[in-house]
Amino acid sequence: MASHTTRPPRPPLREPADAFVHDAERQLREEGLAGADEEFSAPPEVLPAEPGRFMLHFLGYYRWPLVFMFALELGQAACQILIPKAVQRLIDSAVALQGTTTASVWTALAGPMWFFVALNVGILVFSRTSGATLVMVGPALRRRVRNSLYAYLQRHSQRYFMGNFAGSLANRLSEVSMGVNHSLWTVLFDFWPVTVTLVVSLVLLAQVNAWLAIVLAAWTVAYVIVSYRLAMRCREYARTFAAARSAVSGKIVDAVTNVMSSKLFARMEHERRYLGHYLDLEVTAAKRTFWFMERMRWFQFVATLSLQVGMIGYAADLWLRGGISVGSFAMVASLLLLVINDVRNLSRRFLEFFEYIGNITDGVGVIIRPHEVTDEGAAHELHVTGGEIRFEQVDFRYPGGMEVFRGLSLTIQPGERVGLVGFSGSGKSTFVNLILRLYDIQGGRILIDGQDIREVTQDSLRRAVAMISQDPMLFHRSLLENVRYGRLDATDQEVQDAARQAHAHEFIVSLPEGYESLVGERGVRLSGGQRQRIAIARAILKDAPIFFMDEATSSLDSVTERHIQNSIERLMHNRTSIVIAHRLSTISHLNRIVVFHEGEVVEDGTHAELLARGGHYARLWSMQAGGFLPEHLGEEAWPPEVR
Ligand SMILES: Nc1ncnc2c1ncn2[C@@H]1O[C@H](COP(=O)(O)OP(=O)(O)OP(=O)(O)O)[C@@H](O)[C@H]1O
Ligand SMILES: [Mg+2]
Repeated sequence: MASHTTRPPRPPLREPADAFVHDAERQLREEGLAGADEEFSAPPEVLPAEPGRFMLHFLGYYRWPLVFMFALELGQAACQILIPKAVQRLIDSAVALQGTTTASVWTALAGPMWFFVALNVGILVFSRTSGATLVMVGPALRRRVRNSLYAYLQRHSQRYFMGNFAGSLANRLSEVSMGVNHSLWTVLFDFWPVTVTLVVSLVLLAQVNAWLAIVLAAWTVAYVIVSYRLAMRCREYARTFAAARSAVSGKIVDAVTNVMSSKLFARMEHERRYLGHYLDLEVTAAKRTFWFMERMRWFQFVATLSLQVGMIGYAADLWLRGGISVGSFAMVASLLLLVINDVRNLSRRFLEFFEYIGNITDGVGVIIRPHEVTDEGAAHELHVTGGEIRFEQVDFRYPGGMEVFRGLSLTIQPGERVGLVGFSGSGKSTFVNLILRLYDIQGGRILIDGQDIREVTQDSLRRAVAMISQDPMLFHRSLLENVRYGRLDATDQEVQDAARQAHAHEFIVSLPEGYESLVGERGVRLSGGQRQRIAIARAILKDAPIFFMDEATSSLDSVTERHIQNSIERLMHNRTSIVIAHRLSTISHLNRIVVFHEGEVVEDGTHAELLARGGHYARLWSMQAGGFLPEHLGEEAWPPEVR
């Protein structure tokens, strides 16, 4: 009775799949990433944009294993289809032996028996060797495709990533790598063996009776043509179905991302209805595809049945009239069963094959586009001496957007600390993004210490700048890793020092897991101000000669901001710095203040000079400092000290 209390707890049947990934993460934390590997530090690979050449590019890496697998599959298919031949010899020998003694039966049957056994051993050896090769090649091929595509994707421009959703890119990346694998396996394990099977069967049948071979050949040609046609038509339906499916996932992702909004507006029912519309669409597309597949199955069934009945009937007739032996009849029957079995699924295979090819074409079409912002062939490393930044007659418009700058010229002296001010949308963020070459300009030049940023490598350019952006994003990795992103070889102590300077250390250590805490996708588990402090710590660690800050202290309360201000002051020391701010008190003490208005510099000078001028800046300043809004923006409305 008490047995159930003494029994030790049963171990889980299998460890959770996550454990595997967690282990990998722990290992990474403890041992770090492996040192620079040829694969990762190699110059970027040139990938063909045409799907066929794209496939060949990757298959080329596994040329010999693939040739080997084709040979193994050839062997296997040949053995398989020779089994009916062994059956024929067995039966014919047995028939010839009727009435003789058991001992001689065994000697007479030994030959055919050995043939039969040898074929089966052959099938086993060929198929398992091919299987083992597949284990070696398959995952490696998938890894290579993903790695290369990812490396290519990384080098796309900012605009590209704004126009393509992260989820859909990730999806395309895996679909292409799956597509390359599966289409290869379809050729290797379906199309190729069927071809071998057919050729061998035709030879075997021709030995029995030429008509059998001719009929099978004619039937196969017709069957393949019709199957191909049907698959091509079904492909259109399948594509629509796939588009409908991904539309549904896209809508779900969007709705989940914005679930807070639908709660706040009590629009849950509206969202369900909205999704329902797209679900209906998917059902319609699915039904159309599946009905068509049903029709394909009818065709397969009728076509194979008529072949089977016709040919077996004809062979039986031959046998009855003494034209062929009973063994030959058995061979014809089993050959047909085998061939039909192989060929039956051909239309399904064509369909899948085209789906894989379609996925590859789609994915390659989206990912392998020419990069918009590229290093010139002769690009050299940027060499920062003082950190002078010069815009010369810069024209810029966002691709497909409106014009932001026309003929903008502005020079920022080495080591100068500049505040950028202006209404929302006046081009402040764009200004610093252009210096980082996130976009290419249409006219003019941008120079850093006399070097055109288009003539230096993007990596060296961005290494020279520490930027705290308007909306800092964090990786879903530990806080330690997020801060260390500024300088990968920083010690834990250095990371903590940087965090202290950014006033992030206090809140980090108060988290249950401290520096090991994960911050959620894009850093959602932190408050806006905490995220900004992490971004500041990161920039402190980066210690680059040029420093940009875009509204980075806007989410901080005044006390925290005051604290951080000191660290930022230190960061700006001896560095060319550009600080964008709406709260003017954060920049009023800088060397110089530049006021942007609709992409133009409308004012430029020190705080005192600009106040004395009584223009835009003075107006903004009085609004923020005086805390009142004048009724109309005429001069006379301003307080006397600004006027
Ligand atoms: N990726 C983009 N594609 C197209 N247009 C853009 C893009 N980013 C900004 N713009 C447009 O360029 C103009 C300048 O934008 P920018 O972000 O530089 O303004 P900002 O001065 O930084 O404003 P804020 O103070 O609100 O941050 C705006 O009209 C904006 O709509
Ligand atoms: Mg901005």
